[in-house]
Amino acid sequence: MDWLILPGILVGFLLIISGVLILVEKAMGGDKEKTIHINDDTDIPFQGNDTVLNALSEEKIFVPSACGGKATCGFCKVRLIDDISPLKPTEEAFISKEEEKEGVHLSCQTKVYDNMKIVLPKGLLSAKEFKSRNYRS
Ligand code: FES
Repeated sequence: MDWLILPGILVGFLLIISGVLILVEKAMGGDKEKTIHINDDTDIPFQGNDTVLNALSEEKIFVPSACGGKATCGFCKVRLIDDISPLKPTEEAFISKEEEKEGVHLSCQTKVYDNMKIVLPKGLLSAKEFKSRNYRS
């Protein structure tokens, strides 16, 4: 029976860690409804704790992204209004000092923790999704 003690302690420890992580996510607003205000004329409701890039994509607003959100292309820039958070190390290679002062961040590296205001080029709001078919197969 002694051989059950260590696995039991590990399982108990993992349950405690999981509970703490769930509480932290709730405290950070992970499950409350938030709004992304775009260009002061479009509101996107969002629930969850995903990135701005993915939240906009769910609403068919396609911010350029060549790397799929892996922070390697630098195409997914958005300007966050009233945001004073520092750049993440993954953003530093793509955001100039001038852009940083204006609140520009990579949308794939920015989580939607609360209501937020962003500025996007107008053309992105009218971009359409197209499906294609491979006729060779
Ligand atoms: S999607 Fe490529 S850097 Fe954000």
